[in-house]
This record gives sequence, structure tokens and C-alpha cells, in this order.
Amino acid sequence: MTENSFTPRVFSGVKPSGGLQLGNYLGAIKRWVDMQGKMETIYCVVDLHAITVWQDPAELKNGTREIAAGMLAAGIDPTQSILFNQSQVAAHAELGWIFNCVARVGWMNRMTQFKDKAGTNAEQVSLGLYAYPSLMAADILLYHGTHVPVGDDQKQHVELTRDIATKFNHDFKTDFFPLTEPVIEGPAMRIMNLREGTKKMSKSGESDMERINMTDDADLIAKKFKKAKTDPEPLPETIDGLAERPEARNLVDIYAALDDKTPEAVIAEYAGAGWGKFKPALADLAVAKLSPISTEMARLMNDPAEIDRILGDGAEKARAIAEPILQKTYDIVGLLRS
Ligand code: TRP
Repeated sequence: MTENSFTPRVFSGVKPSGGLQLGNYLGAIKRWVDMQGKMETIYCVVDLHAITVWQDPAELKNGTREIAAGMLAAGIDPTQSILFNQSQVAAHAELGWIFNCVARVGWMNRMTQFKDKAGTNAEQVSLGLYAYPSLMAADILLYHGTHVPVGDDQKQHVELTRDIATKFNHDFKTDFFPLTEPVIEGPAMRIMNLREGTKKMSKSGESDMERINMTDDADLIAKKFKKAKTDPEPLPETIDGLAERPEARNLVDIYAALDDKTPEAVIAEYAGAGWGKFKPALADLAVAKLSPISTEMARLMNDPAEIDRILGDGAEKARAIAEPILQKTYDIVGLLRS
């Protein structure tokens, strides 16, 4: 099995549960834009993953459009990337089933995200939530995806994807599926909650003050950064000084990611600065970088038919790649096609 016999192809996905927030933008979408033109890129709004927990139907549709609008506004170019929503390509669910029959229950039991999400309620969550990682493996392998840019919280799922590919290839004596690499780099791979520097920024967190939404206006962005939790110390002289200061580190990382700099460069610029200086600078930078995106997003959201058209075109292109791979998989497994 040679990993490099596959054409490099990027696949990644974002869940449409709730609106788009800064963590999705800096941690995912901004980096996806950077990968365009360098490799083949396929980006997916993973609505089938969203319904592993309850979604209000109208909000799910709206959220799918909002994520797509955010991706387009941030620079995902449908002539350079394939952009679509997962449920429009039935092959995801079909390959997902086959992978349910390859993956082992013991592997699923080790998934830390499932354990976190199910908590003490594991008997009551959906079967879909448990099988989520094998659908994710199907998303990626349906396109023979070789590179998956994700946050470090998704690393275990990409490793599971490799395990599924390895077992499938072994069981069926083939080298049909590639061993996908996670691509985890940059300061923004994990943007944290503004109120608790050890928790990921998320759309579902209970307080709106803990996240920056891509639809927040300038005043609200400034207010949220001003109220962001920090410690009383000024910024250190070197990056090592942030080691035990998760909230401070997070704000420096956000600044760095927004300004396309390293966190080290931000520290060099602001060494010794107090929060009274750094927070307003961060808020100004965020507003300058995000307002063109939110303006464009709002424009797109006024034209849902256009978003749907783009997703439909993307789904058609996605199917053209996915269908032959699914058919070949059926054939390998021994599923008869008339
Ligand atoms: N599980 C990912 C998340 O929660 C979303 C996702 C679904 C994904 N399928 C994917 C990411 C395939 C990368 C590749 O963020």
C-alpha cells in the first residue's frame, strides 16, 4: 500500500448546527481558502452529521445556507473548489453504511468526542452520534481524500478513518482506499471560548459572550473582546510566558490568525502591553477583517436561491467523483449491481 500513489486531494467539512462563528472561520474556513488552487479541494457542509443531535428543520436549512454563505464570503470559490452540502450526495450515507460494517464497536468506544458529547447520558443519545466517525470516514474516503485540514479535536476521527481504510484494504486484499493525513497547523487550529480558555469556542455554548459570531456588528465585537476573560498580567516578553495563561494565549492566537502572523510576532509587537491596549487593538483588527465577510454574507443570505444553486452545482460535481468510487467499493465488497 503506497500512500503517495493517490492524487493529493483535500476534503473537509463543517457542521451547520447554529450560525458561523470566529472559531469556524479562523480554525477551518480561512485555511481552506488558502489551500485552494494548490490542490484539488472539496468542502462540504455536513448536514447529515448535524442531525446526530436534534435540529429544528427550518433552522437546519437556514444554518446550511448560512455556513455556505460564510464560506463563499470568506473566499471559497466554487470555480476552484467543490462546495456542496452532504445530504445532496447520497453516496455519503451509502459508503457510511459499508464502513459501519468495517469499523469495530471497540474503536467507536474509544472516541473521546463521543464520550464528551454523550456524557452520562450515553444510553439516550442517537445511534447516529455513535456512528458519526464512520460517516466522517466515508465523507473523506468517498473522494479518496488524502489531506484533511481539521482542528486537533478531530485528529482522532482522521486516525479512525485511516484504521477503516487499512482494515477495508486488508479484509478485501486491495489498496483501494488511501491513508488520509490530518493537516493540523497554524495558531488558530483551536480557537477557545472567550470566557473559559480551556473550552473550544462553539456555536452551542450557552452564553453568546463566549464567542464571536460572523454576524456580530462592530460594537458587539468590541464589547465581547473587552469583556473576554484574561488574567491581570500584561503580555509577556516571549511566547513561553503564555504557557500557563490559556485565556491570554487564546487572544494572542486570535490576533495572529486574523493578521496572518505567528503568535511570536504578535508578542514581539505587544510585549509588555496591558489589556487596555491589546484588547481594543484586537477588536479593531477583528472588525476590519470580519466586516467585509459579514457584509457579503448578509448579501448572499438575501438571495437563498443563489446559494442553493451553488450547492446544487457543487453536489453534481461531487457526485461525479463519488459515484465511481462507491460503485467500485460495492464491487469489491461483492454487492451485486444489475
Ligand atoms: N466532525 C467534523 C467536526 O465536528 C466535521 C466533519 C464531518 C468533517 N465530516 C468531515 C471534517 C470530514 C473533516 C472531514 O468538525
